[in-house]
Amino acid sequence: MELIDGKKISNEVKQEIAAEVEQIKKAGGKTPHLAAMIVGHDGASETYVAAKVKACHAVGFESSEFRFEDDITEEQLLAEIRKVNENDDIDGLIVQLPLPKHISETKVIETIRPEKDVDGFHPMNVGKMVASLPTYLPATPAGIVELLKRYNVETSGKNCVVIGRSNIVGTPMSVLMSRKAAYGDCTVTLCHSRTKNIAEITRQADIVIVALGMKEFLTGDMVKEGAVIIDVGIHRVKSDKTKSGWKLLGDVKFDEVAPKASFITPVPGGVGPMTIVSLLQNTLLASKKEIY
Ligand code: GUN
Repeated sequence: MELIDGKKISNEVKQEIAAEVEQIKKAGGKTPHLAAMIVGHDGASETYVAAKVKACHAVGFESSEFRFEDDITEEQLLAEIRKVNENDDIDGLIVQLPLPKHISETKVIETIRPEKDVDGFHPMNVGKMVASLPTYLPATPAGIVELLKRYNVETSGKNCVVIGRSNIVGTPMSVLMSRKAAYGDCTVTLCHSRTKNIAEITRQADIVIVALGMKEFLTGDMVKEGAVIIDVGIHRVKSDKTKSGWKLLGDVKFDEVAPKASFITPVPGGVGPMTIVSLLQNTLLASKKEIY
């Protein structure tokens, strides 16, 4: 069993990005600039946005944070997005999700200009991804592809089972793994809450990508010997064995699954660190105007 070290790979990619940014700056080019909007005070969102801003600085990007109280109206938020759309200094814009219930995430995503949608959530960019056209790939699926590539995991012709059909992870992941043009070239099965006999399906899988948000869902009896296991879940649970009193668990029951796996991502330190790296890669593409 080989542990897929997302922390190590994310540091490698960050160094590559930092080197490129240095070259761009030396040549008098534009410093990539990412803007992040956050509405309200959701703890997880605060943590994610802080990590994104920190990563920007680590690679030499500029960043801007826009913070709004959760009583901001939908129209006010859309107006703020339009301002950033018009600001030529800002290359990429993300609006951290989830948003308060009175604001339509669809409207928000559709208001971000596709050229600046470095999350890859705009229907234009989703469409380009499905059509195998160059675009901003959503961060988590793109980070997973990068991990598989850098560990030389063979995917062509393999059976890949994706569990979870969210717009952010499961659905785009299933598309990327099935495409020939990208990397996957797999036979993909997408499982979700209505799937029957899920264990029978996962036992056939060469690669299992678990992104359904249920703590330790994938157990040892659900995987075959030698499978590649990618765990997208992250759950904070109380623990009397750690100093902080908390520990993180994934969607995979690690102790049972790891001994059977050929490769597996740990939680934390697997997929998580890669998602931010993908966002940086997209922002760099945006600033170089390589997609639009
Ligand atoms: N919330 C959880 N993941 C993401 C992400 O990748 N982008 C944004 N904008 N919000 C999120």
